[in-house]
Amino acid sequence: MHVSSILSVFGLASLALASPVEVAERQAQKLRIMPLGDSITEITCWRALVWDQLAAAGLADKVQYVGSQNSNPQNCKPATANWDQHHEGHSGWQAVNIANQYLTGWLKSTPADIVMFMLGTNDVNGGRSTDDIIAAFTKMVTIMRAANPKTKIIVDIVIPLPFANSGIQAINARIPEWARGLNTTESPIVIADCYTGFTSSMLRDGVHPNAEGDKVIASRVGPLLLDFVRQSLAQ
Ligand SMILES: *[C@@H]1O[C@H](CO)[C@@H](O)[C@H](O)[C@H]1NC(C)=O
Repeated sequence: MHVSSILSVFGLASLALASPVEVAERQAQKLRIMPLGDSITEITCWRALVWDQLAAAGLADKVQYVGSQNSNPQNCKPATANWDQHHEGHSGWQAVNIANQYLTGWLKSTPADIVMFMLGTNDVNGGRSTDDIIAAFTKMVTIMRAANPKTKIIVDIVIPLPFANSGIQAINARIPEWARGLNTTESPIVIADCYTGFTSSMLRDGVHPNAEGDKVIASRVGPLLLDFVRQSLAQ
């Protein structure tokens, strides 16, 4: 009786007096989502549109985007003015280099609960083989899980690259079986198909999505992200 009444007093006291440290801890507990990729992640607006989906679902105050970058190079103006502009998109970068040299450090600096990535375009452009690109994807998953065994992963089927589309199609054809092979209950991998129905008229410069293309990517990635966020909040 004494113990429970003491506890209830403490309970009330801690409710009434949330210290700045407690508030900071609560904010630090927001789910951490890393948008990882190349220029198709950095200098585009789909991540802003996905944030709108999080906000519309009432989830925006429970999540944060994370990454070493904090930028809005396309001056995207989504419905949510205060959208989180953090990301790990690096224009021109290849999956192979990200896997071999950078991802370990990035995830150490800004750990993630959910990673969503589109990569491979610059590898194809740089003449990397499909095998090397898929091996880089595998290495990235290994690195994500070493950093956080419960990482939830969204891998994108890559948008078309009209001048080298056979290379993109070759990676895309491998992704479903690759993802199934690495899928686990603890660290699920789901596939966002950003290729089907994505036409070259949705590219602004032959490589990057225009406003229509951004909408398509957001419509394929966003629902999977919302599922993962809801699952994580329920766990
Ligand atoms: C991975 O497993 C989850 C849960 O069973 C499933 O929803 C998802 O579709 C699987 N991913 C792939 C690529 O098969």
